[in-house]
Amino acid sequence: MKPKCVVGLGLPPDLIASLEARYQVMAWSETQPMPESTLQDWLVDARGLLCALSTPITARLIEHAPQLSVISTISVGVDHIDLSAASAAGIPVGHTPGVLVDSTADLTLGLMLAVTRRMAEADRWMRGGHWAQGWQSDLLLGTDLSKATVGIVGLGPIGEAVVRRLSGFGCTVLAWNRTPKVIEGAQLVELDALFERCDIVSLHTALTDETTHIASAARLASMRSGAALINTGRGLLVDEEALIRELSAGRLAAGLDVFTEEPLPADHPLLKLDNAVLLPHVGSATTATRLAMVERALHNLHSGMAGERVPYCANPGVYAESAGRR
Ligand code: DGY
Repeated sequence: MKPKCVVGLGLPPDLIASLEARYQVMAWSETQPMPESTLQDWLVDARGLLCALSTPITARLIEHAPQLSVISTISVGVDHIDLSAASAAGIPVGHTPGVLVDSTADLTLGLMLAVTRRMAEADRWMRGGHWAQGWQSDLLLGTDLSKATVGIVGLGPIGEAVVRRLSGFGCTVLAWNRTPKVIEGAQLVELDALFERCDIVSLHTALTDETTHIASAARLASMRSGAALINTGRGLLVDEEALIRELSAGRLAAGLDVFTEEPLPADHPLLKLDNAVLLPHVGSATTATRLAMVERALHNLHSGMAGERVPYCANPGVYAESAGRR
């Protein structure tokens, strides 16, 4: 009998068919995220789980999945998975590092330009039929990225790729990393100093207990008037309520691809603010990158299902810790 594999998100039929050739597949095909109770039922006798950010994998789910031998997420971030519970249960968690670095770094630069040059606002203004006067010397004035001091919070692969791109713009780049790291083109500074000194602060650190609200109310308040916050990491890196206060006061601008609550509720205050450019978590959304992510996630899944070491494992300690546990 084929081992059972649960797919917790909608995927193209040809991909599901390729999984069905190897496994007994139970695949969620609704547009809304899979309810935890359904996932719990499906996981009772499953060997593998393929999931993504929209499916929180809680300790409770892991506890009720006694045969689970691999969790494979189509994302680099694993903050939606209780990693400690997975490790304690001896389950390797596969993720997709590397392949989405360039797409996410490109989008970050896009947001920096969109915010500093007010692109989304200008597009809305034009479509609103306001362009009656032709060229005007003071129309929609922005600021120059090339003259900005940009602060990078987190020098992982995406933060580093953003630094590389910024070198082409000629701006001054400051950076902070949890562990000191020397990289060309960026001067390392303390985190508080970075928020105080930069015209643009861009967040690239993973979401953990320590980094939750790293862009705190106090740090946002310390930013220069007219500065911008860019976030292509995770919504919870920012104290969103404090950011909304700063945006509403017109003190800061923002370019956001991620939010505390996703999808953003229709009545969310951010949607009313002209000085925020908002994107629906599309940092890695290019066809080539999404294909590469799926390929990497399938590699992880197949390895785990076959009892082999998961190649891109977010909790590699599991192999030492869990010898013989499952
Ligand atoms: C990830 O992979 O963690 C991104 O946020 C989704 O593309």
